Amino acid sequence: MVKSLSLLVGVLCASMASAQGLKDIYQDAFLIGSIASHQQLTHPDAQTRALFQREFNVLTAENDMKWQRIYPSPEGYNFAAADALMQQAEDCQCQVVGHTLIWHQQTPDWVFEDESGKPVSREVLLSRMQSHISTLMTRYKNDVYGWDVVNEALNEDGTLRDSRWRDIIGDDYIAQAFRFAAEADPDAELYYNDYNLNAPAKRDGAVRLVKSLLAQGIKVSGIGMQAHYMLHSPKVSQVEASIQAFASLGVEVMITELDISVLPFPKQAAIGAEISEIAAYAEELNPYAKQLPQEVQTALAQRYQDLFTLFYQHRKSISRVTFWGTHDGTSWKNNWPVRGRTDYPLLFDRDGKPKPAYDAVATVPSVMAQ
Ligand code: G3I
Repeated sequence: MVKSLSLLVGVLCASMASAQGLKDIYQDAFLIGSIASHQQLTHPDAQTRALFQREFNVLTAENDMKWQRIYPSPEGYNFAAADALMQQAEDCQCQVVGHTLIWHQQTPDWVFEDESGKPVSREVLLSRMQSHISTLMTRYKNDVYGWDVVNEALNEDGTLRDSRWRDIIGDDYIAQAFRFAAEADPDAELYYNDYNLNAPAKRDGAVRLVKSLLAQGIKVSGIGMQAHYMLHSPKVSQVEASIQAFASLGVEVMITELDISVLPFPKQAAIGAEISEIAAYAEELNPYAKQLPQEVQTALAQRYQDLFTLFYQHRKSISRVTFWGTHDGTSWKNNWPVRGRTDYPLLFDRDGKPKPAYDAVATVPSVMAQ
């Protein structure tokens, strides 16, 4: 009851303050980010540009700085879309976060292989890793203030994930990547980024990993909690425990890929964001194909308000909250963990209009000041 009342008060306040964007409303707390899709970078649309200008002060490329996109073959780099991101960021006076340098996904096979298709040696792979990190970080030194250096290196139980990076280089591939990044641009912030970091075992794994890197004198500026959440999980208290655990390491905490699915999660799929795990389509898994019922819309707004209340309470530890998408129509959640569904995970609807969830988020600082 109290919560619903605060939501209602909040919605009224937000309407009154609509001249401001989220970046203004949260300017004393943390940066507010969004992502630019490939479509947006290659065929920019005015509506998304206007949203960037009004609402956000930091941008990330959804896909176009991943190895597979920017360095698809040994013949050379394709910087066109990433360069376009820097231009769009300049237009909206946004800062830029680079995503991502080293990941088990979206890295072409040739990176790990010699000309005959055999795995390369540790030395060769380290040299390719260093060269890639140095190429990107040098090119965008004046544009990108922080990088997701290593993405998703942990299993759900907190142990190190098997990957071709780990197989060939060894467990120290993460430390090496951070060392190369610190050399390439000593001024850049360097992040470890992963999903499901609210889960206790994975949270502990991330704490162990970052603690060990820091103990070796390796620069790690922050931990990115991706935050691909659902309406009823994870619990806000679990998210809070992770924010506190990471902050106690003395590094920044960032919410880096926030979205909240309102759709049922197929039982056979692993909760998280492992893009390779796709479940079969079934009508009952796509209940809101035509429209979102009012009660779900309200529940989504409440869920966003609860999370932003938590983020705002921890604003001294949190430096950025980035949404993984601008509006519902372009969200990856429409195609994961089931292809071809209609999800509603963001603050703006398919026409780019703010949803009740937007108003719920926008009012948190003023409601908390009362
Ligand atoms: O653009 C091609 C299109 O030409 C082709 O017809 C189609 C066929 O599958 O694929 C299109 O590319 C897809 C691309 O998204 C653009 O929609 C890729 O297959 C698909 O793999 C890719 O998925 C991206 C995924 O990362 C893998 O790179 C999602 O957009 C992107 O939102 C997602 O983002 C990740 C973060 O980087 C890391 N954390 C998890 C997060 C969600 O998985």
